[in-house]
Amino acid sequence: MLLIRFFGGKGGVGKTTLAAAYALRLAEQGLRTLVVSTDPAHSLGDVLATSLSGEPRELAPGLWAAEISGEEQAGKRIAEVLEDARHAVPREVLPAVQRHLSRAADSPGTVESALLDRLTELVEDVGPRWDRLVVDSAPTGHMVRLLSLPALLTPWIEGLTRQREKVRGADRLVAGLLGGEQERPDPLLDRLHARRARLERMRARLRDDALVHLVLVPEHLPLAETLRAADTLTDGGLTLGTVLVNRVLPAGETGVLARRQAQQEDVLARVAERFGETGVVRIPLLAGTLTGRAELADLAARLASV
Ligand SMILES: Nc1ncnc2c1ncn2[C@@H]1O[C@H](COP(=O)(O)OP(=O)(O)O)[C@@H](O)[C@H]1O
Ligand SMILES: [Mg+2]
Repeated sequence: MLLIRFFGGKGGVGKTTLAAAYALRLAEQGLRTLVVSTDPAHSLGDVLATSLSGEPRELAPGLWAAEISGEEQAGKRIAEVLEDARHAVPREVLPAVQRHLSRAADSPGTVESALLDRLTELVEDVGPRWDRLVVDSAPTGHMVRLLSLPALLTPWIEGLTRQREKVRGADRLVAGLLGGEQERPDPLLDRLHARRARLERMRARLRDDALVHLVLVPEHLPLAETLRAADTLTDGGLTLGTVLVNRVLPAGETGVLARRQAQQEDVLARVAERFGETGVVRIPLLAGTLTGRAELADLAARLASV
């Protein structure tokens, strides 16, 4: 049983709805389940008919939910780095460091790596605090990027660590020449080492404990995106879980819907061909509003084999 499940796919295919329904099902089985949205356009709260924040909130016995944000986390991290810098860099360069950090706070790279940080914190609590983690992801490209970040960031952190170690080596040499000052702590270097170790743990958990469920509607563009994502994710060392084909039209339609159905049959055949071994579940187009826990119950039951 893999403990962490990502729901990914094109915008509007039903990721949030299915992630919420799946989490509900796990909680009903008695598992302490956290469902978390990483999509900046959060709609998990809407689907669960409640308001959510970055801190997990218990909505029902065994069910917690949160909407996490890269911007919020980046703000917190910049404050911490600034605090470290106060002790580690000469007073006269602090204003420059401060300026640089406040600019960095809004840069896309900082925001996405901060989002990864927050997700990593939650992943590290799987086991001690949660039995299962369900992630309602941002649309495909963003999710793929987020999942590949641990691998992308590792060499970058290693480079920074080497630079910092060089500076420290020079400091130590000078201190030695001047008659051996005591070794001073280096919070920046400690933080770099800690980040490197955390990234490594996150990579291992994504590889060993996580499944990605690709969600699509039975149309050609979502299919094309799903096929590409499947390749990128598996090349990156992730494992695919059951593929969810959502909003499948019932048989026996006429007119426009009959033509839609022909397209649907073609897509379903291709999905079966590519993902037959991974497993595919079809979810019909449902009539309800699909918001609120009671409305999601039917959907949750359809995810029994996922
Ligand atoms: N099986 C379904 N039948 C009918 N409507 C659905 C189904 N699944 C999702 N929807 C609706 O489709 C819309 C998009 O779903 P959502 O979960 O927000 O997609 P995403 O998170 O992928 O953007 C919502 O209005 C949702 O209620
Ligand atoms: Mg969504």
